[in-house]
Amino acid sequence: MGDGGTSRASGSEREGARKTAEGLAYLSGFGNEHSSEAVPGALPEGRNSPQRAPLGLYAEQLSGSAFTEPRAHNRRSWLYRIRPSAAHPAFTRTQNGSVRTAPFNQTVPDPNRLRWNPLPDPAPETDFLAGLWTLGGNGDATQRTGIAVHLYAANASMDRVFSDADGELLIVPERGGLLLRTEFGLMHVEPGHVALIPRGVRFRVELLDDSARGYVCENYGAPFRLPDLGPIGANGLANARDFRAPVAAYEDVEGPVEVVNKFCGNLWTATYDHSPLDVVAWHGNHVPYIYDLRRFNVLGTITYDHPDPSIFTVLTSPSDTPGLAGVDFVVFAPRWLVGEDTFRPPYFHRNVMSEYMGLIEGAYDAKAEGFVPGGGSLHNMMSAHGPDRETFDRASAAELKPQKIDDGLAFMFETRWPLTLTPHAARAEHLQQRYDDVWQGLERHFRP
Ligand SMILES: [Fe+2]
Repeated sequence: MGDGGTSRASGSEREGARKTAEGLAYLSGFGNEHSSEAVPGALPEGRNSPQRAPLGLYAEQLSGSAFTEPRAHNRRSWLYRIRPSAAHPAFTRTQNGSVRTAPFNQTVPDPNRLRWNPLPDPAPETDFLAGLWTLGGNGDATQRTGIAVHLYAANASMDRVFSDADGELLIVPERGGLLLRTEFGLMHVEPGHVALIPRGVRFRVELLDDSARGYVCENYGAPFRLPDLGPIGANGLANARDFRAPVAAYEDVEGPVEVVNKFCGNLWTATYDHSPLDVVAWHGNHVPYIYDLRRFNVLGTITYDHPDPSIFTVLTSPSDTPGLAGVDFVVFAPRWLVGEDTFRPPYFHRNVMSEYMGLIEGAYDAKAEGFVPGGGSLHNMMSAHGPDRETFDRASAAELKPQKIDDGLAFMFETRWPLTLTPHAARAEHLQQRYDDVWQGLERHFRP
């Protein structure tokens, strides 16, 4: 799975990284015009690109949207760095490992309901990038449409630096804490948190535990934003203030640093003579961020019926059709169920959207067994799914007193286009062979 450039961190390095991670400060708010400087005076006042930037730094803009997009969706940041990003040698192709990119056309799109167990443990010295394993996806990275669904399993910290020109990366840890060193500063996530690395932003993943495992949505489309709330009002679901961006922090490293760049589906490598994580100050609204899913304000019924799962949307990437997301990131978090005369678990349905689900911890209320943390399921466009037999029987007979679901954290990447698998996902040993059986034995109860 990919080439080397990794090193197993010693226990003391892990401890040092954890200490760093737990002491971090953040800037609060989604989409804010943030500013941060690691050295006082590094940020120019009153202009973005003065004739001579403060402290001998280089000024550089990073665009997250076209210059001319509407102001409400316009994203860019100004970075003040020791060397301009342009100061690098040519990139050359390197092995793609298990990373694949849309268009996905090596397998036939599969109408079957599919479910996987967790990835097998990685080989020794596998860092986050080498441990990335693409399940499938849709769209076309060069057209900036669609997504890829990846999983990762790692046991070593990255020495190298990675950036993804093809899309932003929504990282969903399931096992093991991560310290993310980015151009904008440092961020810490544990299982139950998510991290977003914008398109093209360079970063390095350091492990805080012996191993790390999780999911990644690589979003080729419009950057994730908070969903509109409509009649819900001005508050609720994921609240903007709970998203946190890093404060500026820089590496002043002169010496060889490997930088891997994912571009139009391939990995390219170059050895810099300095660290590109050398941004001393920055300002703007195009930033990496983290979010604690337990802060999600879950809304649901207080009368009857299970609401449609869109009520659980954390972030959405709109497409060119209003209301039709390229991808929604949806979380099924601990919550009270109080619906009267209601089948309380998620209902049986067939969805025009396609659903990839993962489990961060505990259990999911529609599946009694087989859907395990680190595993995942795919219910492609129009595939019939819903509670398994055991769940149906239990929920149909349950006494409908208020019930707290507090032992599970599941999520969904829900996308407007069907997902096509990579050959290695379609053939994986950890693909469950008898997933259909969970809906066997749903007996007829019809009594005309
Ligand atoms: Fe569904």
